[in-house]
Amino acid sequence: MSKIVKIKINRPASSYRISVGSGTLASAGTWAQNALKKGGGKIVVVSNPTVFKLYGEQCESSLLQAGFTVTTFLMKDGEVHKSLRTAESALKAFSEAGLTRTDAVVALGGGVVGDLVGFAAAMYLRGVAFLQIPTTLLAMIDSSVGGKTGVNSAFGKNLIGAFHQPSGVLIDVSTLATLPSREVTAGFCEMIKHGVIAGKPLLKRTDELLEKYPIAEFAEHLENRNFRSEISNLIASNVEFKAEVVAGDEFESAEKIDARSRKILNFGHTLAHALEKVTNYRHFKHGEAVGYGILFAAELSKSLALCDTKVVNLLYDVVHRIGTLPSLAGIDATEVIEAFRFDKKNISGSLQMVLLKGLGRPVIVSQRDIPTKAFHTNLENFLQKRPGA
Ligand SMILES: NC(=O)c1ccc[n+]([C@@H]2O[C@H](COP(=O)([O-])OP(=O)(O)OC[C@H]3O[C@@H](n4cnc5c(N)ncnc54)[C@H](O)[C@@H]3O)[C@@H](O)[C@H]2O)c1
Ligand SMILES: [Zn+2]
Repeated sequence: MSKIVKIKINRPASSYRISVGSGTLASAGTWAQNALKKGGGKIVVVSNPTVFKLYGEQCESSLLQAGFTVTTFLMKDGEVHKSLRTAESALKAFSEAGLTRTDAVVALGGGVVGDLVGFAAAMYLRGVAFLQIPTTLLAMIDSSVGGKTGVNSAFGKNLIGAFHQPSGVLIDVSTLATLPSREVTAGFCEMIKHGVIAGKPLLKRTDELLEKYPIAEFAEHLENRNFRSEISNLIASNVEFKAEVVAGDEFESAEKIDARSRKILNFGHTLAHALEKVTNYRHFKHGEAVGYGILFAAELSKSLALCDTKVVNLLYDVVHRIGTLPSLAGIDATEVIEAFRFDKKNISGSLQMVLLKGLGRPVIVSQRDIPTKAFHTNLENFLQKRPGA
């Protein structure tokens, strides 16, 4: 087992630890006791069949050994199941398991499971404790940290939700060995996003790791102790960075638009959301769309003379290391612009975009302040260039 890095979220009312290491799942029981500050009681483990088949037994037997009474609820796999309907089924399962205010739920899986379980835990009896055991790279570095929970609905993604911080997060990097390669790429895209907005040292570490350990053999690298240790440390630094941003702006205040606003975490997401929408959420993994979003935001920043070519080139280099992104062929600029308008409606008329003044220097710009012509020309060129292919 490699070392466990413990990170404390800096909010007295809800500080929790995020433990990162290899093989940590085997001690999920004692970890849960520490996180919940108690032994025993009921726990409902929520997962999906894919993840549960791989890691459910190990997780549950450790919880049982630690004296918890464990019940399982499996939701279907996939983003479409991150819905109110599934949340209602989860609530029913909590009730049938006899969960009380002092009990807890565990989310074992990727961001879909984590978001749904956090939301159900926020609603059940007006809030029960929940623990996150993220098993995708994206969930480890992004969705399991920060307390945003929620579900999708007919009127948009993630528009129904609650802020509900977990009582603890347990990251076992060895679970990444079974992750499909596209999911690995998607996770690295969000990692690059963190690097770009955090600053050169973090981005450089991601780039160096990818250079030393080519992504095509990611699962094999996980058999190497040094790699497990290096990736654990890198994940910990990503978590630390996200936790720091969240601690400064936990509820993403609408007025806060400085470089420490939680909104900076949306870097690369304006184009990503539009690409996902115009392809009916079927063509791209969210993280893959973020990969394109990062490059587009950098190109736009350069054309508005906010940052220089060196930064853009560097980002192209890093993004290329994480494998091929799904093709942009056939994606129409007009439709993408229409999708931006939809996003705009969702945030009361003023779409804000995160641009770059340089590495570690994100800037939040209202779309009103971006010349329409520059925006359109950049987008058309970008789609034509098909940079990820
Ligand atoms: N709450 C937040 O702050 C936040 C931030 C970013 C993303 N999100 C949300 O996260 C979701 C995306 O999460 P995701 O990328 O983890 O996708 P996901 O949860 O759908 O997982 C991707 C796939 O990998 C499988 N899987 C998970 N772990 C595995 C493992 N170890 N081995 C083999 N297969 C495994 C899953 O069953 C699934 O099929 C989106 O709904 C997004 O909105 C939330
Ligand atoms: Zn994202």
